[in-house]
Amino acid sequence: MKQVSSIAPGKIILTGEHSVVYGEPALLAALGRQVEVSISSGDSDRILIQTDAIGFRGGTSIDEVVSYWKKAFRVWESYIQLNEVDEWKAIATDPLVILKVCLGLVYDELGSCGGVDIQVKSSVLVGSGMGSSASLATALIGGLGSFFGVKWSKEDLYERVYTVEQIAHGRASGADPTAVVYGGVVEFVKEKETKLFKHHSLPKNKGHFQLINSGKPAETTGELVSMVHTQLLTERQTTQRKIDAIGKLSRDVIKQIEKGLIQWDWISENERLLEDLGVVGLQAQQLIRSLEGEGIMAKVCGAGGVAVGSGMILAYHLDWEKLQRACSMTDKQIYPVVLGVEGWHLA
Ligand code: MEV
Repeated sequence: MKQVSSIAPGKIILTGEHSVVYGEPALLAALGRQVEVSISSGDSDRILIQTDAIGFRGGTSIDEVVSYWKKAFRVWESYIQLNEVDEWKAIATDPLVILKVCLGLVYDELGSCGGVDIQVKSSVLVGSGMGSSASLATALIGGLGSFFGVKWSKEDLYERVYTVEQIAHGRASGADPTAVVYGGVVEFVKEKETKLFKHHSLPKNKGHFQLINSGKPAETTGELVSMVHTQLLTERQTTQRKIDAIGKLSRDVIKQIEKGLIQWDWISENERLLEDLGVVGLQAQQLIRSLEGEGIMAKVCGAGGVAVGSGMILAYHLDWEKLQRACSMTDKQIYPVVLGVEGWHLA
């Protein structure tokens, strides 16, 4: 029986989250955790899905996913052009939005080319700043393309994933899918509609990192991006100043990396700027202050989160023992960090 296994890594943002939506550069790394999608032939027009990531097991039809995708795209356009938020929020908060939009987009493009059975296994936590939506979309669209024998380049795959990210996150910059599709450590900038990226290497003596889970955000990435956008409309000058400051910091960090001399002390400054922007909740701020008390630098590394948790916190120290001791003193889940892994590929 024909079967395709498609793998996409997660991502973390080293610097530039949120400001990247407004044309500032960001530095991201593909993360050594992954989504693996296995696809095999199914019944005529039926799609069966089993996913451990969101605990879903069920079926749908090709017609259903194609109409879902068309509606989701229309609703997203009305949100962007006319600021019609309510209908878009209902779509963006659907736990199955990524799955259904990806399937609909591919079947709409390729026509009814037969049903499939899909299994999703993931070590990328959902909605926690690890890039779960970009990695699921990449593994799924890349896998379906290969399963149906379509010759999409990585650029073709990227553009499709970017469309899905925009529907889910409203004003997505396109940074996350860049790290996930192309892998490595990447600088990303969106200048109007042009998206540019460049690979970098992290300097050798780079110290050590751990990820600490500050708790699942109550808000989706789309809601947090929309919150900053509203702030920009209502408090233009102060918000723009904060975005410019994160942009400047990101440019400085990229310059350091290009010279092969990175000093990680900017992590704390980046965190303060994100707190100032209002995307880091009290729970994560307290956790970060206690880590800082132990000499550890730490920041959120995705969209953040306000009401409850703020997703993954990237903690750094030059000394591995000190980092481990401080992280294990928190009562939180800790994850090892491998930065700059391979991007999307078939197993
Ligand atoms: C989310 O991982 C990163 C944000 O900057 C949104 C985006 O770039 O699309 C918050």
